[in-house]
Amino acid sequence: MRELLVIGIGAGDPDQVTIQAIKAMNKADAFFVIGKGDEKQDLVDLRTTILEEHVTGPYRVVDIADPPRNRTPDDYEGVVDDWHERRAAVFEEKFAAEPGVGAILVWGDPSLYDSTLRIVERVLARGNVSFDYSVIPGVTSVQSLAAGHRMVLNRIGEPIHITTGRRLAEGLPEGVDNAVVMLDANTTFTQVPGEDVQIWWGAYLGTPDEVLISGRLRDVESEIQRVRTELRERKGWIMDTYLLRR
Ligand SMILES: C[S@@+](CC[C@H](N)C(=O)[O-])C[C@H]1O[C@@H](n2cnc3c(N)ncnc32)[C@H](O)[C@@H]1O
Repeated sequence: MRELLVIGIGAGDPDQVTIQAIKAMNKADAFFVIGKGDEKQDLVDLRTTILEEHVTGPYRVVDIADPPRNRTPDDYEGVVDDWHERRAAVFEEKFAAEPGVGAILVWGDPSLYDSTLRIVERVLARGNVSFDYSVIPGVTSVQSLAAGHRMVLNRIGEPIHITTGRRLAEGLPEGVDNAVVMLDANTTFTQVPGEDVQIWWGAYLGTPDEVLISGRLRDVESEIQRVRTELRERKGWIMDTYLLRR
């Protein structure tokens, strides 16, 4: 492969695809699609729609099957390292077979909770293939959340912390008053103590199913839990993000 383009495609709204991303997509001969086998059909459809709408010339789609990972290992670090190496080997093989320009479409932006760039670096570090690569930024779910609620993520001059549901379960760090939480399957906000916490929650941001709820955490937490459960059951999957402010 001559060149690899890692392209952020926005977090759900096909109109969030930037002109820079469209130009990059039209340079690609092949799109690598990374599948764990459990990807939601809606998300697969969105990627197909984006390609059909924006790419004018011919292109190929190359599937890369992610190797399975042991999720409950005894030796966590050793197993994860082994899995990353196996992933890199699979990517390397597909990259080596591509003569032209390859592209990977990344949900939101590649800089936020996404492993694509780490895999690409690992493939290059193995030294068996070489290529140039560049990153085209995309609109993240965090920006979609802020836009949906028409808000600024931080109060004037304050820092903003971005974290996961798993880390939030350990508590908000001392001095952190604004935190965006992603990858939270367990409505961990209910474990955040305090009567003075506000929440701005959003699910399916940027899609026709977008749902927004905001208010004092203690007033709206049960409503968010109920709505989240209903939506997840109805669609079979959910993606949600929220801002907490003390
Ligand atoms: C693996 S991370 C990928 C984030 C992505 N790279 C980005 O820039 O937004 C997936 C998490 O992003 C958030 N997310 C992504 N798309 C979303 C959407 N359309 N609505 C709400 N949350 C979303 C959820 O917290 C989800 O668990």
